[in-house]
Amino acid sequence: MSVLSESLREKIRALFPNYPNKRAVTLPALHLVHDEMRQVSIEAIREIGQLLELHPSEVHDTMTFYNFFKDEKHPLGKHRVWVCRSIACALRGGEELLAHACEKLHVGPGETTKDGRITLEFAECLGACEGAPCVLVDDNCHMNLTPESFDELSKTL
Ligand code: FES
Repeated sequence: MSVLSESLREKIRALFPNYPNKRAVTLPALHLVHDEMRQVSIEAIREIGQLLELHPSEVHDTMTFYNFFKDEKHPLGKHRVWVCRSIACALRGGEELLAHACEKLHVGPGETTKDGRITLEFAECLGACEGAPCVLVDDNCHMNLTPESFDELSKTL
């Protein structure tokens, strides 16, 4: 039985006309699978390889190169929270904010809370330095955070 749903397969196939060849769809396909399944399992890698006519090791190489995708041993939580630690944020309390988030959520960077609600990550510059320190929650950037406002934000997730 396939781990990729037919609708997910169709979304991947729908990308083909936008790229010069199937190999070039590797990264967008990984994103589609990762977003929907919150992980990319070994079986998903095999099936992506079949769709793209690539050896699974080629898909795996791309996946692991970026250190962004989670595997089945470390699936993503419902929300992914990135705390910026680059210079502008670091100068305005980003490191302390990350330490606070780790303590509050009882996880280290790259880990997911026991209830599967939040995966905490550190990020390099999020491109919103004017609002340092900032945190990206899924696709939304939150600026000028304090430990207190981080706590309020995390309660909404
Ligand atoms: S340094 Fe944090 S957003 Fe740029």
